[in-house]
Amino acid sequence: MDADVARTLFHASTIQARLDEMAQDLTVDYENTELTVIAILNGSMMFVADLLRRLPLRLQVACLSVASYHGATESTGVVEFLQIALPDVKGRRVLLMDDILDSGRTLAAIREKILRECDPAEVRVCVLLSKRKTRAEEVKADYVGFEIENEFVVGYGLDYREKYRNLPYIGVLKPELISG
Ligand code: IMP
Ligand code: MG
Repeated sequence: MDADVARTLFHASTIQARLDEMAQDLTVDYENTELTVIAILNGSMMFVADLLRRLPLRLQVACLSVASYHGATESTGVVEFLQIALPDVKGRRVLLMDDILDSGRTLAAIREKILRECDPAEVRVCVLLSKRKTRAEEVKADYVGFEIENEFVVGYGLDYREKYRNLPYIGVLKPELISG
């Protein structure tokens, strides 16, 4: 797998050190509140698992699966919810956690649906990565691990065609491996 990576962006230890910092911010911001973390699967699996165990908070966790249809590396804009039931977050503070903020479509669609249908106290967004680019949907990320340039990355939960999620670090795939 390593041979498919052109360049490492964030080593495993760099990611873990940043998670320590993010956990400190979240612990202060959500102390003594009714927090529900909603993990957007599959991409956020590593991020959520590593970050949540750093939070000494009485939080609840729910998971949401969506398919945001992709060409090779760009989302096409259709966000399909793969489950009907949304978690009961009425009156609670909600933190949406995702791997990466790219076009913004996925998080915008989920945020709108939860605000419209679930009557939460608030919805915030926490992503490991945020791409520097003009987004199709303007989504404010309240917590960001790292800002990156507009290039396709894999590892630590992020996939290319469902591969590379289990890389312990984040890297840029060799361009010749990205097709159509
Ligand atoms: P959106 O374009 O902001 O809606 O992002 C949708 C989803 O596309 C993200 O949750 C990721 O799963 C995936 N994605 C976007 N950019 C990348 C990338 O650079 N590598 C891997 N997956 C990505
Ligand atoms: Mg993906």
